[in-house]
Amino acid sequence: MCGIVGYTGGRQAAPIVLDGLTKLEYRGYDSAGVAISGDGGDIDIVKAKGKLKVLCDLTDGGKKLNGLCGIGHTRWATHGEPSQNNAHPHCNDDKTIVAVHNGIIENYTQLKAKLIRRGYTFYSETDTEVATKLVDYYYRKYNEPLKAISEFALHVRGSYALAVLFKDFPGEIFAIRKDSPMVIGYTDGGAFLASDVPAILKYTRNIYYTDNHEIVLLSKEGVAFYNLDREEISKSATVISWDAEAAEKGGWEHFMLKEIHEQPDVVANTVNYFLHGDNLDLSELHLSDDYLKEIDRIVITGCGSAYHVGVVAQYVFEDLARLPVTVEIASEFRYRNPVLTGRELVIVISQSGETADSLAALREMKARGVKTLAVVNVLGSSIAREADSVLYTKAGPEISVATTKAYSSQLIAMYLVALKLAKLRGTISEEYFSTLKKELTLLPEKIKTVLENKSVIQKFASEMVDKEDVFFIGRGIDYATCIESSLKLKEISYIHSEAYAAGELKHGTISLIENGTLVFGILTQKALVEKTVSNLVETASRGAYIAVLADENVDGIPVKFDKVFRIPHTDGHFSASLAVISMQLFSYYLSVLRGNDVDKPRNLAKSVTVE
Ligand code: F6R
Repeated sequence: MCGIVGYTGGRQAAPIVLDGLTKLEYRGYDSAGVAISGDGGDIDIVKAKGKLKVLCDLTDGGKKLNGLCGIGHTRWATHGEPSQNNAHPHCNDDKTIVAVHNGIIENYTQLKAKLIRRGYTFYSETDTEVATKLVDYYYRKYNEPLKAISEFALHVRGSYALAVLFKDFPGEIFAIRKDSPMVIGYTDGGAFLASDVPAILKYTRNIYYTDNHEIVLLSKEGVAFYNLDREEISKSATVISWDAEAAEKGGWEHFMLKEIHEQPDVVANTVNYFLHGDNLDLSELHLSDDYLKEIDRIVITGCGSAYHVGVVAQYVFEDLARLPVTVEIASEFRYRNPVLTGRELVIVISQSGETADSLAALREMKARGVKTLAVVNVLGSSIAREADSVLYTKAGPEISVATTKAYSSQLIAMYLVALKLAKLRGTISEEYFSTLKKELTLLPEKIKTVLENKSVIQKFASEMVDKEDVFFIGRGIDYATCIESSLKLKEISYIHSEAYAAGELKHGTISLIENGTLVFGILTQKALVEKTVSNLVETASRGAYIAVLADENVDGIPVKFDKVFRIPHTDGHFSASLAVISMQLFSYYLSVLRGNDVDKPRNLAKSVTVE
């Protein structure tokens, strides 16, 4: 989704703003722009369609734009096509008010009509131009920027992180957010704002997380926060402990490849944070044992890969903790009228903690009085702050749009909660509890083993590069891995693919199998292997090319299958953590071989803050 950056201080602003925007490229965008307030307050705007490089070339990396205060934006089109005209920043007619915006103004057509009635004209199709002119309208009325911003907030519906320059207030940036991320930083060198920490981490580690409807005034003297009544409020900064390097490519060809290889570490970090020797300590969650014993159902919700983690977790929770579990796609769940007893625990899974539908589902559940647990990666994100309780995954910043290491650490988080519940409810023996804890600590080494064998997957990908349809089939947890494998393949290689519960294929979809269609079977669930093998044989007899990914202990794989890849053995409940690694590599290599933009696949955004 769109990214915003702002800087004001003692240095030339444009290079800093452009540099920050490059750190937000991972969010996805199709045009970009900057506005720099020069001497005397005149504001220069430069915008370009396409990659940031175009904007950097136009401005010589920002050097051509003089001024110590500026804002910038990468736009992921929502209202109006990607074009220079629709790109941000947007301005009022005399360029005395200029703004960038991330989010969606839902009532922009009504607001636009109202402004047109008052004599305003519009040059773009964007809701942001409407937002900018609304600020202009209230600024003209009250002649006071804080008042103009608070009136803006009172009259718009939707989500926004909005940063505004006023010609009358040179060297100052006014900003406000609601439901779109915005962080603020400050050092002796100046004040910064951004959609995400990596954009400004090079300059400061002191980060303020803004809450909904907080107005921020940034100047070279410091940052000040106000509520909508324009009363100053105090906030304390969080010191970021991870390194800027963690968000850099560090010699890897792509962020995705780097993040795939970080998985042994992030899995170890998440396991070791909560499991000390034999002691599983989830006290940080502030969910009492008494409460956890009382719950009668678990509802898991999220979007995309986070939802897929929920599908794995459903099998694990039900089998280990003997609790009924439903997994819900957040964009559906939020609009349903689910039957709730009030004794459920709702778990919202999200890497970014900002996904609009997941956040809305969380709020809906809270409004109904149900307890919520967020499994989130980004510290201080909206979902983390609003949930009753948070379990932070320890994946570090994930830059590549396609999630890999966050998915893996979410799996671990869910295993840990399942183990805790199983122990409390007495549904597994002490001995098996110990075995499973031990097995979790062994996962990082086993993931390393899968990674060490990556050249086999790479070679296979080169043989499959021309495939146009791929089917992933499996049963139980293997089916859950299939849906994630299929999503990964689609999003970065652009190869059409389907994931099927193996037994379901013959109820219609098998008619799509032709000579040479690649069918990838996942076989890690011992009790289900025979059944999935039969389903694979059914497709083989219709001409499919059969590849399987199997636990090293699984027997009974027919010799006639075309390719067999082995992964180390682990307890069946945790097998998704190993199988998914091979599938991530398969998708990655296919994407590279097909010449795609691996880290920034077309039409996709890292943090989906629109509905
Ligand atoms: C797929 C992917 C997406 C996200 C989804 C939810 O590789 O990254 O499907 O999983 O957009 O995002 P978060 O986890 O940030 O809520």
